[in-house]
Amino acid sequence: MAEDVKPFLAALRGQSMVPPPLWLMRQAGRYLPEYRKLRERARNFLDFCYTPELAVEATLQPLRRFRPDAAILFSDILVVPDALGQAVDFREGEGPVLEPLRSRRDVEVLKSGRVLRHLEPVFTALRGIRRALPPETALIGFAGAPWTVATYMVEGRGGTDFGRALGWDGEDPEGFAMLIDLLVEATAAYLIEQVRHGAEALQIFDSWAGALDEARFRRLAIAPTRRLVAKVRAACPEIPIIGFPRGAGVLYADYVRETGVDGISLDSAVDLGFARLALQPNTVLQGNLDPQVLVRGGSEMRDAALAILENLGRGPFIFNLGHGVVPETPVENVLQLAATVRAWRP
Ligand code: CP3
Repeated sequence: MAEDVKPFLAALRGQSMVPPPLWLMRQAGRYLPEYRKLRERARNFLDFCYTPELAVEATLQPLRRFRPDAAILFSDILVVPDALGQAVDFREGEGPVLEPLRSRRDVEVLKSGRVLRHLEPVFTALRGIRRALPPETALIGFAGAPWTVATYMVEGRGGTDFGRALGWDGEDPEGFAMLIDLLVEATAAYLIEQVRHGAEALQIFDSWAGALDEARFRRLAIAPTRRLVAKVRAACPEIPIIGFPRGAGVLYADYVRETGVDGISLDSAVDLGFARLALQPNTVLQGNLDPQVLVRGGSEMRDAALAILENLGRGPFIFNLGHGVVPETPVENVLQLAATVRAWRP
């Protein structure tokens, strides 16, 4: 099926679409009762991600609910540390727990040679999703950016102040750079393989970019992402790439200019006027409704969605949230949001 029948891909290539295409970060997940039911079939979350039948089904569930213009592979950014041989566990109510890396020695024992073999079930899932997708729906592959994945690998969990990761970088920047470089290599290979198995666009999640000061943002968010994008482009010149340096503030502009991404996902704190005037002339924008506004719904949600559309909807633009759908979200609100976006005209 020709790409130009997929509104998401047309927008990502720079076309202004009316209405703009829509998908939601974390559109699969616990806010859907059918997801919670499916999740019971796996022993743990990583097994769920590595069982193609379950991953395909979880990817397709939100499509039946609200027909987003893109499906996103059901997986997680932490499959890369798992594939590198670090112990990763997802605990109920606690989120991810990893055996934290402490030294260069811990980096040296990671096994980059087995990454693609270990992630074979993910590629099987991608092929299954592509076969099942309606012709107008695009398939997004993804990975975490090196900095964000490194924070989990060094801190051992989420929800920290990044003291260990920032401390390691401060005391031994060359040692920390070994970890970042390893992640650039492994993540590039992983994303290229996703494209070979059916991903039609890629998103790079740098969820903790906002923890970096300006100098570190340039060195640990922009520079590794630029190298990652260049490696993927060398193998897959046509693949569109969206970057998500969450919390980057005004540095979103430098991120766009220097990483070579085709589009950026805006977090909810980004000012819409700044986005329209300083960012949209140079890139495709995606975002940025506050996930908590989606929880509350009603006229507040409608007004917030219309404000985003009035500012950015003349495009090129893809409607999304500023971060992932949270488990408390009423499904009804997601349907209403999709209806609001689809009814909008410039
Ligand atoms: O629908 C989709 O968007 C695709 C699937 C997807 C998941 N995680 C599934 C998931 C994607 C794209 C991710 C990315 C991800 N994972 C990020 C980057 C985006 C962001 O939210 O900032 C990060 C930081 C992670 C790491 C992660 N995974 C955490 C911190 C947690 C625990 C918190 C939580 O929401 O449970 C996870 C678990 C996770 N990843 C779940 C899902 C559906 C919940 C697991 C469960 O079912 O119990």
